[in-house]
Amino acid sequence: MTEQTVDTNPFDEFNRAMGAGTVTNPYPDFASMRAEHIVPADVRQLMGLDADAELDFDPAEVPPLYTVSSYDAVQEVLRDGERFSSAGYAEAMGPVMGHTILEMDEPEHRAYRSLIQQAFSRKAMEMWEQELVGPIVDECIDAFAASGKTELVSELHFPFPVNVIAGLLGLPRSDLPKFHRWAVEIISVGIDSANAMNASASLYDYLVGFVHERRDSPGNDMISVLASAEHDGQRLTDDEIIAFCRLLLPAGAETTYRSSANLMCGLLTHPDQMDQVRTDRSLLPQAIEEGLRWEPPLLTIMRTATGETTVCGVDLPHGAVLIVNMGAANHDESRWADPDSFDINRQSTSHIAFASGPHMCLGMHLARMETKVAINRIFDRLPNLRLDPDADPPYITGMTFRAPPRLDVVFDTT
Ligand code: HEM
Repeated sequence: MTEQTVDTNPFDEFNRAMGAGTVTNPYPDFASMRAEHIVPADVRQLMGLDADAELDFDPAEVPPLYTVSSYDAVQEVLRDGERFSSAGYAEAMGPVMGHTILEMDEPEHRAYRSLIQQAFSRKAMEMWEQELVGPIVDECIDAFAASGKTELVSELHFPFPVNVIAGLLGLPRSDLPKFHRWAVEIISVGIDSANAMNASASLYDYLVGFVHERRDSPGNDMISVLASAEHDGQRLTDDEIIAFCRLLLPAGAETTYRSSANLMCGLLTHPDQMDQVRTDRSLLPQAIEEGLRWEPPLLTIMRTATGETTVCGVDLPHGAVLIVNMGAANHDESRWADPDSFDINRQSTSHIAFASGPHMCLGMHLARMETKVAINRIFDRLPNLRLDPDADPPYITGMTFRAPPRLDVVFDTT
């Protein structure tokens, strides 16, 4: 890769903090929790600490924590924005992200989402597919296509989605390395909060100029659409637009890089299924859904109970903080036979990798389109793609975010 290559160091640190390298298969533990729908969660375990590790806060001050694991319980929690609030994100992410859509409850959330949605139209999606995603993926592949071997995560899966986000926002390609670094520093707020605050301010200063410029002379990029979007006579402020742009990086790049790499890992380690998709591309959409079900890139999200309530027979106190485990729900044996296996031919049943209810992912069609373009281009341009027999076998790792650290492959050159 050329100038849009990004240095992976801050990303490695972020990945380590998310459990990469230590947690390879959390699914057996999820199975036992799922049987009870919702179980009390241990703060040390959630922080990845030993059971007797010292804490720099009083655990008695932490609100009661629970993990929600069965499909039915996860659906019930996510679909009910009145009983289960998203406002808890404000404390964790608000200081660095600003007031984003993620932390809004109704009716504010609905009004804001209507405005933002205007940037994700079908027309925009078609334009992005042709003019942005295809060329970006091709450019990544150009860099290694003649060599007959590559490591796909660093050469393709990692760089392409962040390039897409920068393109959607209409930012200069040459700014991408610093833009990506700030974004990862922001989401690493739990590791180094001072650095995250600095990165947040730098990203604000960087973006505000573009917002003003696009208000005066709009183009067809997403900042221009957001600057002129209107719903019930309301418009977005600079702060609201910038909070959204800050969110797009973790929401759109971290997830799509991981989900497309997880799918590729599933295909490479199941060569029969990869051959099926390679020869019959009409199977690609169902393979993409199975990849998202089997190994969702983001395992958990958070909600807070707004009052005393009961879910699937489990009583929850007012203020209970719920770790909603979409990964566990996606492996619920009451919905999928042999749920831990990757099987693109299984009966299609909707998964929960994009959440559910009012906050269901706004970028899910974009993520699917990006993955479709990337996998199609890989198959078209890298004949006889297979795992490198001289490299270690790939594996997927991580506890909150999951992805394979490497995908070493070989292919024929023409
Ligand atoms: C495979 C890739 C993706 C996955 C698995 C994913 C997953 C999710 C999940 C689980 C949520 C709900 C979070 C919560 O309520 O706590 C969410 C929300 C959101 N996602 Fe995605 N996402 C992906 C790609 C994208 C992309 C490409 C974009 C945009 C470029 C995007 C933009 C958003 C936004 C704006 C929200 C907030 C929606 C709201 O609060 O109403 N996502 N996503």
